[in-house]
Amino acid sequence: MKLGIQLFRNYWHMVCHRNELPNDGDFIRFKTPIGDVVVFNDCGNYIAFDNRCAHRGTFIYLTDFGNQANTCKYHGWTFKSGNLIIPAFEQFKGCSINKADLNRYKLDWCGDFLFLGVEPQSDLYAQLDGAVEFIENISFNISGRLDAITYEYECTWPIAVENALEPYHIGMVHPGTLANLKLEDGLNTFYGSNSVWQAPLGDDRIKKQLTRLGTFLNIDYAYQGYMSIFMFPFTMISSTFGYSYSLQNFFPHQSRHDRTNFMSRLLACHVKDERAQTIMQPFFDSTAKVNRIIFEEDHSICKIMPVDAWSADPLIFMSDQELKISHFRDMCRFNLNILDKNNY
Ligand code: FES
Ligand SMILES: [Fe+2]
Repeated sequence: MKLGIQLFRNYWHMVCHRNELPNDGDFIRFKTPIGDVVVFNDCGNYIAFDNRCAHRGTFIYLTDFGNQANTCKYHGWTFKSGNLIIPAFEQFKGCSINKADLNRYKLDWCGDFLFLGVEPQSDLYAQLDGAVEFIENISFNISGRLDAITYEYECTWPIAVENALEPYHIGMVHPGTLANLKLEDGLNTFYGSNSVWQAPLGDDRIKKQLTRLGTFLNIDYAYQGYMSIFMFPFTMISSTFGYSYSLQNFFPHQSRHDRTNFMSRLLACHVKDERAQTIMQPFFDSTAKVNRIIFEEDHSICKIMPVDAWSADPLIFMSDQELKISHFRDMCRFNLNILDKNNY
């Protein structure tokens, strides 16, 4: 459990795209190993804070997504335009009321993707290393959120992450969904603690269909195949042909070692015009539907892996398709060495 908290505190985490929170009051709430974290559009400025009222600790946001003023339901303390507005302010005598503020976390941008940091040990671009170029390029092609789901995976977080890192299980676990793409072996590239997998599609019919749809889109960057970018330690963004992107966070649970807080967003790319939007909508809808099935399939296999099925040791039997797991475990061991070795 301590490893999860340490990684959460010491690394930057991709939390959303700029176009997911376009309006004043838009928010997303994340369940994290240090408690709720909210990312919030405050009159055009983005802030992240711990979802607790600075007065007496009430939760401010009670849902995962939405639009709501940053006002506490208890006594009405309100955060707006960078300031706390406190009812009956003059009655707070004998305390440092001027120092009252939300408990804020750091935010930084890579392109139009927003990253959260609690006590990050390096700057964002150094952490992302060579993955920066992919992330920036993708970010400028995204128009907004199509779908979102959150649930608790019934497994410990590294098992959920490792499942997302290897394509070896696709034939067994996703026979009617992801396996239809007939992904080829592909190429793994490692950038610092992160990794990128690019795999051509083996199914010509699907490839042709996707190529045809490309004429309705307004994108200037795309990998013409399946690409997934893993941003150590908890986040993955993946796409087929760059038409939509699945952003997934696997945050360690705050109190349960055998649970993972999974949040997934489906982000759409820019379409050319309104007519193109009408044509693309059924494609986006079916992508959202299929993605939900894929996550259920992944969850169903992850939950039959007990907590002690994972350790940071190298895999004893490793296929070429599990190379990214090996790299992930290297990074976990590196961080465990900073910690006490047995404290996972
Ligand atoms: S606890 Fe939030 S305003 Fe008092
Ligand atoms: Fe999977």
